[in-house]
Amino acid sequence: MAILPILTTPNPILKKVAKDVTTIDDAICEQVDNMLDTMYHDNGIGLAAPQIGISNRVIVVDIEQTEEHGTKNPIFLINPNIVWQSGEMNIYEEGCLSVPNITASIERPKEIKLEYLDRNGKEQFLEANGLLATCIQHEIDHLNGILFIDYLSKLKRNIITKKLKKMTKQKELI
Ligand code: NI
Repeated sequence: MAILPILTTPNPILKKVAKDVTTIDDAICEQVDNMLDTMYHDNGIGLAAPQIGISNRVIVVDIEQTEEHGTKNPIFLINPNIVWQSGEMNIYEEGCLSVPNITASIERPKEIKLEYLDRNGKEQFLEANGLLATCIQHEIDHLNGILFIDYLSKLKRNIITKKLKKMTKQKELI
């Protein structure tokens, strides 16, 4: 298992539509395990494969991990597909490991139902609501080349992009 570097915007891999996984083999299992390690290491509650530079439809999520309890309850989602979403919406303050130091309130459907393959290649069905639903939708967006800042107005997005560019430049100077 390994901790991998996380790509940040404007890396072009983050804007690509990721490909379906066709076979769940040792390489995919290793990728999933590495993604989980990386997510815990960076204190994320979700991570999608494009964020570590692999353009396939793999997600890891754990909204229950807490430092004080040390409990872990990871969910591995391969080729996730939302089959139903509620009309009722929820707003959460979202952040993203690929968009460092930025948060924004984003509105998404409150409940979703999805199909996916688990780490063993078994078909699974999940009903999610609240934070879990938001987190899964945020991660599925990554598989489609969408970042949460893409939901903001052009004006707000431009300010954030400029900020991020400045930060990247500063990093290069050190
Ligand atoms: Ni993200």
